[in-house]
Amino acid sequence: MSEKINVLIIGSGGREHALAWKLNQSPLAGRIYAAPGSEGMRDCARPVPMGALEFDKITDFCAGSDIGLCVIGPEEPLAKGLADHLAARGVKVFGPRRQAAMLEASKQLAKEFMRRNYIPTAAFQSFYDPQPAKEAVRSNKKWPLVVKADGLAAGKGVRVCAEEASALSAVEDFMEKRIFGSSGARVVLEEFLEGREASVMALCDGRDFVMLPVARDHKRLRDGDEGPNTGGMGAVAPVELDAETLEKVRVDVLGRFVEGLKKERIPYCGVVFAGLMLTKDGPKALEFNVRFGDPETQTVLPLLSSDLLAHMLACAEGRLAGERPEFHGGACATVVMAAAGYPENPEKGAGIRGLDKVPAGAEVFHAGTSAQDGRFKVAGGRVLGVAARGGDLAEALRRAYAAAGAISFEGMQYRRDIGA
Ligand SMILES: Nc1ncnc2c1ncn2[C@@H]1O[C@H](COP(=O)(O)OP(=O)(O)O)[C@@H](O)[C@H]1O
Ligand SMILES: [Mg+2]
Repeated sequence: MSEKINVLIIGSGGREHALAWKLNQSPLAGRIYAAPGSEGMRDCARPVPMGALEFDKITDFCAGSDIGLCVIGPEEPLAKGLADHLAARGVKVFGPRRQAAMLEASKQLAKEFMRRNYIPTAAFQSFYDPQPAKEAVRSNKKWPLVVKADGLAAGKGVRVCAEEASALSAVEDFMEKRIFGSSGARVVLEEFLEGREASVMALCDGRDFVMLPVARDHKRLRDGDEGPNTGGMGAVAPVELDAETLEKVRVDVLGRFVEGLKKERIPYCGVVFAGLMLTKDGPKALEFNVRFGDPETQTVLPLLSSDLLAHMLACAEGRLAGERPEFHGGACATVVMAAAGYPENPEKGAGIRGLDKVPAGAEVFHAGTSAQDGRFKVAGGRVLGVAARGGDLAEALRRAYAAAGAISFEGMQYRRDIGA
């Protein structure tokens, strides 16, 4: 047996807890740390008090603790070059460098990359100044129109506008009022695509990729897709796509993305996450993210039966072609339990009851909790993600909801129609 590998996970949310949980099952794993991590994931990763943007501290820690792989969860450290920083110091990283991370961090660069590489996507125009953007809105014929701030905006930089007035105010908010700061320096106006959404993640080493099961998340707060947008209230996988659609996702979306990286000599190691609209003309890419999705990860990783750490190391060492990930049959469902007041004003501090009553077989991933004397409290908007597998989606949902039903805290909110 070869030497064990110590792993550092960057991040502290439900996605990172799921990564820690899965990596902890690997026979290759030595010590697993998370920075900053959380008390809720202590069973599978030791928290280290460093922020995701404290690059020097992170690099020093990797050198001092013999870290054999650093796995970067969130987009911000990727877009700010944490992977470059670590690679320069000889640390193996799962997570792309800054240049590739810009394909998530700039919608304009991403759309141009898609166009150059013939990836099916909505027609678009980019703008650097508010006046020409407003002209384009005024002369637009087809409504709705989608207005997107170019940069990272924590999921709030996209508005689907039904008519001229709301599109004009989106341009004003992003470009003139700069409600997302420099993220609104440029905007993209995009054709509205009709269909159902789905998302697919693939592990990628820059040459090859392997697809994980297709997932679907639920962004609205309330049942029936009502209420405000959130970071995601739950997810299910796999989404059953017909063979032709699945093949188009593999070849035309992911395949062309990776071909584009190669052609443009952009090195890549990490997850390629494609947000898809399944239109009547086939699947089209809404966007690419350069990291695991949250909460999609909490519903896709439980379906992986093979060794995630082995797959990630293969990516980091450029030998993904030899890897054959394996999956459990059936389905997985994840229900997010959110705090009172989420998403506008989540209330912190409520005690969480019933974590010890969760039936075996369900996993509870901590997203926003803190611990005091071994008791967990609400400490963020999305508090927990409760995931369960089943022989089919109906069974997975029954188990996930049974587990969620065992847990309670004041003002908790969760959807009863995940997967519907
Ligand atoms: N061209 C489009 N047509 C229809 N809906 C869109 C389009 N672009 C984005 N959307 C909607 O807006 C959401 C967010 O857009 P996305 O490009 O994924 O940006 P982000 O996730 O960074 O906010 C999508 O999940 C989708 O619901
Ligand atoms: Mg998106």
